[in-house]
Amino acid sequence: MKIDCRQISKRFQTKNGIIHALSNISFKTNEQEFLCILGPSGCGKTTLLRIIAGILQPTEGKVIYEGVKDNNKPATALVFQEHGVFPWINVIDNVCFGLETQKISRKDRYGMAMPLIEKMHLAGFTKNYPHQLSSGMKQRVGLARAFVSGAEILLMDEPFASLDAQMRVILQEELLNIQREYRKSVIYITHDIEEAITLADRIILMTARPGQIKQEINVNLSRPRNVNGEHASEFISMRNEIWRQIKEEVDKTTAPLS
Ligand SMILES: Nc1ncnc2c1ncn2[C@@H]1O[C@H](COP(=O)(O)OP(=O)(O)O)[C@@H](O)[C@H]1O
Ligand SMILES: [Mg+2]
Repeated sequence: MKIDCRQISKRFQTKNGIIHALSNISFKTNEQEFLCILGPSGCGKTTLLRIIAGILQPTEGKVIYEGVKDNNKPATALVFQEHGVFPWINVIDNVCFGLETQKISRKDRYGMAMPLIEKMHLAGFTKNYPHQLSSGMKQRVGLARAFVSGAEILLMDEPFASLDAQMRVILQEELLNIQREYRKSVIYITHDIEEAITLADRIILMTARPGQIKQEINVNLSRPRNVNGEHASEFISMRNEIWRQIKEEVDKTTAPLS
């Protein structure tokens, strides 16, 4: 399945006037692609993801879900930065959340969830509640749920932004492994340049608000990728080039009015 965004624009009407959040965004995902959408804070990334998820209507343009294989399964599943797990539900039922509405029995739900729970190192915690988990484990619950949902395209909005640096690296690696294994496409939002280079097959770089596509970058470095790895110099020069472009955008928003 592919997502085809066609000329998406979004304006919000507020009591202080119109906020132009997105302008003429067009792109298409590839099968099993890890696509990162990278841009400065406030450029409209979350708005774009909500439009792709179908929970917000664009002012102009449309999102086409191409080649949907199974209408009984959700086309997309969302993973948020925080508050993605329900505090009153234990781990296994959090992971299964969504399957109930697909009329899958409890026994089958648990059967589907357990392999993901094991992969996400949550096997000893199935009956625990979110307040008993670290933030890294809560994000693992959110990831497991997205993979269990059966959605072909996973939408992630800065899921690791609030984690410490070590945990972020560990979860990035686990996410890449599981994405390969389950052959999902991911649209992953981030404002973190290194995270985008580490994860992405392709990066879509956005301008400052109203968010437009500034550039598309194919990341062809072998994995695992990091600033100390085999391709350190390519990694660093890509990071510096993207930083230069993002700074251009940030400077636009902070330039003194003339
Ligand atoms: N529901 C809304 N009503 C009014 N303005 C909104 C709404 N949602 C987002 N915005 C505005 O749209 C712009 C883009 O927001 P957002 O998509 O959250 O950016 P990002 O995720 O890139 O930080 C911001 O200026 C934000 O204040
Ligand atoms: Mg956001």
